[in-house]
Amino acid sequence: METVVLYPSPGMGHLIALVELGKLILHHHPSFSLHILIVLPSYYTGSTAAYIRHISATVPSITFHYLPPISLELDSFPSTASVTFEVLHRSNPHVRRILESISLSATISAIVIDMFCTCALPIAAELNIPTYYFMPSGACDLALLLHFPTLHNATTKSFRDMNTILHVPGIPPLPSSDLSDPMLYRNSMDYESLLNFAQNIPNSAGIIVNTFESLETKPLNAIREGKCNPGGHTPPVFPVGPLFASEDRHDCLNWLDKQPSKSVVFLCFGSLGLFSAAQLKEIAVGLERSGQRFLWVVRSPPSDDKSKRYLPPPEPDLDTLLPAGFLDRTKDRGLVLKSWAPQVAVLNHESVGGFVTHCGWNSVMEAVWAAVPMVTWPLYAEQKMNRVVLVKELKVALRMEVADDDFVAAEEVERRLRELMESEKGREIRKVVEEKSVEARAAMREGGSSIAAIGKLVELWKRA
Ligand SMILES: *[C@@H]1O[C@H](CO)[C@@H](O)[C@H](O)[C@H]1NC(C)=O
Repeated sequence: METVVLYPSPGMGHLIALVELGKLILHHHPSFSLHILIVLPSYYTGSTAAYIRHISATVPSITFHYLPPISLELDSFPSTASVTFEVLHRSNPHVRRILESISLSATISAIVIDMFCTCALPIAAELNIPTYYFMPSGACDLALLLHFPTLHNATTKSFRDMNTILHVPGIPPLPSSDLSDPMLYRNSMDYESLLNFAQNIPNSAGIIVNTFESLETKPLNAIREGKCNPGGHTPPVFPVGPLFASEDRHDCLNWLDKQPSKSVVFLCFGSLGLFSAAQLKEIAVGLERSGQRFLWVVRSPPSDDKSKRYLPPPEPDLDTLLPAGFLDRTKDRGLVLKSWAPQVAVLNHESVGGFVTHCGWNSVMEAVWAAVPMVTWPLYAEQKMNRVVLVKELKVALRMEVADDDFVAAEEVERRLRELMESEKGREIRKVVEEKSVEARAAMREGGSSIAAIGKLVELWKRA
């Protein structure tokens, strides 16, 4: 029996994609035994408990190991990312202990980690366990990260102060302002952690990416040809996506059943994306004026109280957050959900014809799978780069114009929704995403590129 350890960082997006990879491996190669290390975050990262319970109950070949909680003085950290890096760093002794204890009864063929878990690389190396990176984001992000040490060496300035266009092999020209926050500020802790990760990618035995071959041919080729980290070593790359979890039936699907085919715009911004109260009102006005049918997930605005920023947000009070009478006036063509929606089921529903998204990569993969054209509204992490890729390279999305202060006016929401649902340009991107959806499904069939990539991984692990 082959034993593989999966070690995702806390956060719903990272966890689900990696666990779904585990399920796929088991589906095609039932002889594997998987161990998943769970770091209990000391702050809110989206609720993972129910999902883990479900997997534990239904997939017996997966064993979960909970690492002891690490308590930190959260307010002394500048960002959630820096908290995550620190929690994982301090979890190292526990990771070692668990790996050693698993090794007593089995040879661990591989450990799969994500970028936040780079601090576990030396432990795995000492224990002679090959380490694979898992990228929950796409090949474009991987190309950028592989190129990051080169970009870093080419300047002594912060990218924040450069206002330039970055040329990264395999991806469209990228305005430096579209880099993620950790990459923008050269002197920050997060910058250093990310650079450390980027420098360590070549030390892994392979890189597993949640994408598929024909979607990101350009960045995948550039990476494999070694163009992204010139002079360095590039480990083999395994595109194994799209990876996503499917959900149970939910009431909103009954509402969708009653709407015409491809008529509904779905607006949802991930498990961590929050808007101010003013922005929520503006979206509502834009939605109302657009005349489109919509399914909108509204979350409470971020708390002004800084000590609450790591807590789960409360249920939104729609009556005070939305304009007076909005729900009543739009009740025949709109549905507002509080905090959460079964996104995969919604996107795959026949009535859904458009998706306004924060461009988180999991959401992008789900929309491509479901053949739903997108409007981009990036909020954090590598999402602004994803926007460039979706709009300029893949041509599966329209760009919502977001002002420098991150605000989007009602007129822009209205204009973009009409463009998506009613214009020739909207029809063009719909056609492209439908083609990509067909390719995504082909990649995940027996003999398809993603399933073949999993097969190659498994062969390597069997020989280890
Ligand atoms: C960046 O510069 C450092 C120090 O000179 C060097 O060790 C490293 O190899 C360089 N990396 C790249 C990717 O150019």
